[in-house]
Amino acid sequence: MTEIIHNVTDEWAKRAFIDQKTYQEWYAQSVNDPDAFWGEHGKRLDWFTPYTKVKNTSFEPGNVSIRWFEDGTLNVAHNCIDRHLPHRANQTAIIWEGDDPSESRHITYQELHDRVAELANVLRNRGVEKGDRVTIYLPMIPEAAFAMLACARLGAVHSLVFAGFSPDSLASRIEDCGSKFVITANEGLRGGRKVPLKANVDAALKRVSGVEHVVVVRRTDTDVPMEPGRDVWYHEAIEQVTSECPPVEVNAEDPLFILYTSGSTGKPKGVLHTTGGYLVYAAITHQYVFDYHEGDVYWCTADVGWVTGHSYIVYGPLANGATTLIFEGVPTYPDISRFWQVVDKHNVNIFYTAPTAIRSLMQAGDEPVKKTSRASLRLLGSVGEPINPEAWEWYYRVVGDSRCPVVDTWWQTETGGILIAPLPGATALKPGSATLPFFGVKPGIVDNEGRPQEGAAEGNLVITDSWPGQMRSVYGDHKRFEETYFATYPGCYFTGDGARRDADGYYWITGRVDDVINVSGHRMGTAEVESALVAHAKVSEAAVVGYPHDIKGQGIYAYVTLMEGEEPSDELRKELVAWVRREIGPIASPDLIQFAPGLPKTRSGKIMRRILRKIAEDEFGNLGDTSTLADPTVVDDLVNNRQNRH
Ligand code: WT7
Repeated sequence: MTEIIHNVTDEWAKRAFIDQKTYQEWYAQSVNDPDAFWGEHGKRLDWFTPYTKVKNTSFEPGNVSIRWFEDGTLNVAHNCIDRHLPHRANQTAIIWEGDDPSESRHITYQELHDRVAELANVLRNRGVEKGDRVTIYLPMIPEAAFAMLACARLGAVHSLVFAGFSPDSLASRIEDCGSKFVITANEGLRGGRKVPLKANVDAALKRVSGVEHVVVVRRTDTDVPMEPGRDVWYHEAIEQVTSECPPVEVNAEDPLFILYTSGSTGKPKGVLHTTGGYLVYAAITHQYVFDYHEGDVYWCTADVGWVTGHSYIVYGPLANGATTLIFEGVPTYPDISRFWQVVDKHNVNIFYTAPTAIRSLMQAGDEPVKKTSRASLRLLGSVGEPINPEAWEWYYRVVGDSRCPVVDTWWQTETGGILIAPLPGATALKPGSATLPFFGVKPGIVDNEGRPQEGAAEGNLVITDSWPGQMRSVYGDHKRFEETYFATYPGCYFTGDGARRDADGYYWITGRVDDVINVSGHRMGTAEVESALVAHAKVSEAAVVGYPHDIKGQGIYAYVTLMEGEEPSDELRKELVAWVRREIGPIASPDLIQFAPGLPKTRSGKIMRRILRKIAEDEFGNLGDTSTLADPTVVDDLVNNRQNRH
């Protein structure tokens, strides 16, 4: 196969901050002398007390410790708002585009300051102090950004829970971080449909105790029950306070937020990010990867409930004084041209979305794109899962009119910001490759025994040294942090991804190598879906694997063994799908359920997922060694009753 390369054009190079020579020089310095490099670039923020130390990190087993800028103090809200006020008070900070195309809002930096300070006062008056955890369960409305920044202003730690999660998922996240405060909305609005957020909060709070205050934003006209003493309307509460609220000085290593994410085992982990290193890293990557220039309008379509929304809707862009667009709706409402209509309406220059969205829009053909102008677009970004070269080329050719570089950005909730991505003025693009590491990032490929591979190689992707945006711990469980990320390949951070490095040193991410599946760019632990399934009264056992899905990237394939006496039926299939949606949320809905009288197990009782994966992938001709199975005949039944993928 001949490899396609899109070289840096004169136009991209002319505009970009970083050319190829600068990339190489800076990269070399960043990995050879991280103290000097990050010591310099940390100055892009305002520090109340400047740091004198830069990097103090160890990946050593049993002693993993990550500290950056550890004697500096700062405040994130000050850096994202107040310090811009002298020269940008009247510049738009946030463009909000509603679900309904007739609704939008422009919020200046001054207004952002006032709204954030008011909400911070509302929280402070209800007892929120530095270090307290605040759960945010909001749709894509400006108040979500206000709420995050209000917490940051007080030095409180936010934990966003994606508004698509169920009451149960919300309850377990509230419980895990012991949060006494919740910010929500009466309802959300997406694609013309209402989402009962306050009702979900009420249901969650029946299952977990300790929440003292719930602030409720009124997004729709629907009335919801308010519990006196606990619940308060946002619009009423802010009437009682001023818009003066001095930012609280915190240490660089004080926590900024917790964000729950799925792993291969157990409950979702509370990924803990701290203040200084995280913000430096979010801001610098936002500037250079997206080549963000003064005056640009920047739009990331992710939800603020995921890390992409944290780093690249809110913190990175606002730290850079950018104009960031928050979109409440979906790509297909009112029609399939919506993304491009929004681009034209707000003259978006930089557009960042997920491969799953690109693939589903691509299916509708070129016309819904071509009928819009998109003349303002200058750069396109992709994130969340590997982007197949066909989708990459369509994005480049049809959406970007072969004019805009496409930056495929590889990173994770744990990494805080982008680790591998092209820089538009420096890196020749290869569709399907996330290309080269960002400044300060040292990727490596190891085989299954942990042996480092040199040159062109394929294997497990590790990062061999710390970068400032790295997560610091699993909230409340540092041991789990060490075991999850540093025990598999001692001395390295293990990403959970497989990757290939080509002869040019470019990285091609091949997908997860653990029991995590990536559905439409959302991360799901197979163990979580399994435990939801076995919680159903008719299910005795379940095993969940991923399989290739044209639009979603991966689909969820569940093998279910029923209780003695229960009969498989299509009815029951539907019931189980609905059950998982209710237990976890719609993103966890199994795409295919196969009823299996038995699962393939070793004699010691371990489920052989390798076999289940092959069957789900339709590769049952090549099941490998099945001789260690306790009962090899179960495989025939599994193969014969496999579910049709399309
Ligand atoms: C996993 C992290 C932080 C981004 C949003 C998802 C996959 C992410 C890419 C990419 C190939 C990618 C990886 C990674 N992934 N971006 N550009 N190319 N794979 O964050 O939910 O923490 O998931 O998403 O498998 O490990 P997340």
